[in-house]
Amino acid sequence: MAYLAPSILSADVLQLQKQIEIVEQNGADFIHIDVMDGHFVPNLTFGPFMVKAINSISKLPLDVHLMISNPEQYISEFAASGASIITVHQEACVHLDRSIQLIKQCNCRAGVAINPATPVSALEVIVEIVDLILIMSVNPGFGGQKFIPYTLNKIREIKDMALVKNASCLIEVDGGINEQTALEAVNAGADVIVAGQAIFKQDSIKSACRLLKGIAQNTAKVV
Ligand code: DX5
Ligand code: ZN
Repeated sequence: MAYLAPSILSADVLQLQKQIEIVEQNGADFIHIDVMDGHFVPNLTFGPFMVKAINSISKLPLDVHLMISNPEQYISEFAASGASIITVHQEACVHLDRSIQLIKQCNCRAGVAINPATPVSALEVIVEIVDLILIMSVNPGFGGQKFIPYTLNKIREIKDMALVKNASCLIEVDGGINEQTALEAVNAGADVIVAGQAIFKQDSIKSACRLLKGIAQNTAKVV
């Protein structure tokens, strides 16, 4: 069984509260918030103010994905704004262990993300000390991109590595998730499915959310 984390990157900002309510009522387990700085990735999105605003209207844990350079500088501010999970990119952290410890000191769950071209071996040392590993299945920066098939193997690899090391981290997949790729990712071992366009850019956010939740919960249904 996997969890569903709708990404508000693809939501209509002018209807954000309403759309968050819809996903909350139709199977979302987390709200995924993509923070981009125009430096680590070629796009700009939200800051701590957005996390704080969403925290004031949502009961769900906020899954904050930091696609920013020098994330250490902002971790405490995101924690104070209501983040439950804070995920930093391995590629953005010179002192990754320090970043993980800082997230934990702020009483948040600590996640580490890797880009498609970063090998799973880069996580070998830290897999036992994090709460979540995020396998990017597109190059980070934009919603609506195509799922990169070779990342499925990375999900299997990290799942095996976590099992061997008896690590209890959740494995999250983010980018290009639709009915088909959600099924493949869950079958490969993903515990959390992030979806942006496949939920918020559909005619019915409610039906799209329910459909992906069904896939996340029980892969057999859609085979
Ligand atoms: C991409 C972001 C994703 C994005 C996914 O850099 O990290 O969370 O919202 O969007 P979709 O599901 O549309 O690929
Ligand atoms: Zn994301």
